[in-house]
Amino acid sequence: MSAKQATQHRLERLRASLEQEGCDAVIIRHTSDLRWVTAFEGVFDEEEAHAALVTPQAALLHSDSRYDKALAARAQGTEWEVSGEPVGHARWLAARLGDLRVKRVAIEDDVALNEYRAWAVAFEDLGVELVETHDLVRTLRAVKDADEIECLRAAQEITDAAFTHMCEWLHVGVTEREAGFELDTFLRRHGQGLAFPCICATGENSANPHHIPDDTAAREGDFFLMDFGGRVRDYDADMTRTVVFGTPSAQQREIYDIVARTNEACEAAIKPGVPGKDIHNLAQRLLDEAGYGAYFGHGLGHGVGIDIHELPNEGSRSENLLQVGSVVTVEPGIYLPGVGGVRTEDYGVVTEDGFSVFTKASHDLVQL
Ligand code: GLY
Ligand code: MN
Ligand code: MN
Repeated sequence: MSAKQATQHRLERLRASLEQEGCDAVIIRHTSDLRWVTAFEGVFDEEEAHAALVTPQAALLHSDSRYDKALAARAQGTEWEVSGEPVGHARWLAARLGDLRVKRVAIEDDVALNEYRAWAVAFEDLGVELVETHDLVRTLRAVKDADEIECLRAAQEITDAAFTHMCEWLHVGVTEREAGFELDTFLRRHGQGLAFPCICATGENSANPHHIPDDTAAREGDFFLMDFGGRVRDYDADMTRTVVFGTPSAQQREIYDIVARTNEACEAAIKPGVPGKDIHNLAQRLLDEAGYGAYFGHGLGHGVGIDIHELPNEGSRSENLLQVGSVVTVEPGIYLPGVGGVRTEDYGVVTEDGFSVFTKASHDLVQL
């Protein structure tokens, strides 16, 4: 699928949602949402510097001189019109809403309060009704197209290669920070960036699910947990493996195997139409039955795409259903305070008949 076809397809899906909401326009501000709907590659960074106005007939993008030429180059041959007019988004949007005679404009309910107030003032004389929507674009992004799946698989290939590299490179005495640097470097060298700052945690620190790497050095007998992901064409990978230095203790072996089997049972249970919370609850039940349910605590998984955390969620409070094209992680863990922890995380895509896992690294405990 070309970028031109991708944006056309995504605009059609967005316009169908707008019709369902009874709106004749939507304002999009989040950069990840804009990366998705435009399908423009390698131009959006972390800055929330842009605003789009999409109606049934128009797709308009407002940016500034730091980005407008690169955006205009990518917009060629698509229906997007890019403007770098040096005015604030509120003024630019008010002029376009007036030109297009928009009556009901959808705005996402997580827009910044100061921006919402600026819009209310700027649009005051236009008679435009602001209709608050919740996750309008994120809900569309929760179902990936073929082009997105290709990016996500490619990001995971580099991430699997990084794990293989780390299994050769890691040694007793290495600090978490040094290992994080090695992982970061590998992912950047072989891919196009990092999905998120790598988590490396050894010994007791591995009992903290999102430990920030520090100067703790790995010792013989310690677990070493790595949670990391590469990035390809603006799409993220997400993977966790826990390895051990030397021979695992009986308890390390026990919790490692329980987590691996829980991961596999959950992956086998994923299919379209299943609520995300059911997969989480399955993991919780298996961990409870094994006697370690109190040492889990976080959600089983989440969607991944342009952002590392997307819809659908697989947590105990999730209302999301898994659908064909949902790309989700499966990441059960057992975290024993003062001892250490294990997490095994894969990700993949929900298919007509189940779950196709992108992650190729095995679930066998690697002993270094
Ligand atoms: N690396 C973040 C997560 O696994 O959710
Ligand atoms: Mn992760
Ligand atoms: Mn994850």
